[in-house]
Amino acid sequence: MIVLVGFMGAGKTTIGRALASRLGRPFVDTDQVVEAGIGLSIADIFEGFGERGFREIEARVIAEQLAGPEAVVALGGGAVTTPAVREALAGHDVVLLDITLEDALSRVGGDPSRPMLHRPDLADVFASRADTYRAIATVRVPVGGRPAAEVVELVLAGLEDPTAVPLDPGSPDAGE
Ligand code: S3P
Repeated sequence: MIVLVGFMGAGKTTIGRALASRLGRPFVDTDQVVEAGIGLSIADIFEGFGERGFREIEARVIAEQLAGPEAVVALGGGAVTTPAVREALAGHDVVLLDITLEDALSRVGGDPSRPMLHRPDLADVFASRADTYRAIATVRVPVGGRPAAEVVELVLAGLEDPTAVPLDPGSPDAGE
């Protein structure tokens, strides 16, 4: 399975869809599966069940998808904070779309459909996830200001050879 991870706004859905069509595989966005399964928007699930309730549903959906037929699967940005999700990702191609908080906010800042964006401690949330993303990723692609088509090419190159996109682990855009 090819799984896309990264912070909100990194482009997991856009890149995932394009990647899936390039590879001739189905595309699955686990946020959309969660919403369809529960019949509520992500924002309403957070409101009704809290982040914890959402994470439980999300982890279940991800486990089901990872056990299903080969696909390109985009996870919600916070899915990797759930230990069971991290464990379930072992053995899969995990592609990190690496974005700075500044770039993420300029893309999706203020989006009312993303409750986590409105947390007062958003910078801490971002910082605490950075190491987790990098620890689980088998391929890491800096999104920077690149157009989607270029990111897709980098992902494909990285899947072919994970050392093809060599980066200083300290900086998402190192080497540019
Ligand atoms: C979340 C990211 C969202 C969605 C939910 C929580 C997060 O997905 O799963 O709002 O905790 O970062 P995207 O990364 O697709 O926006």
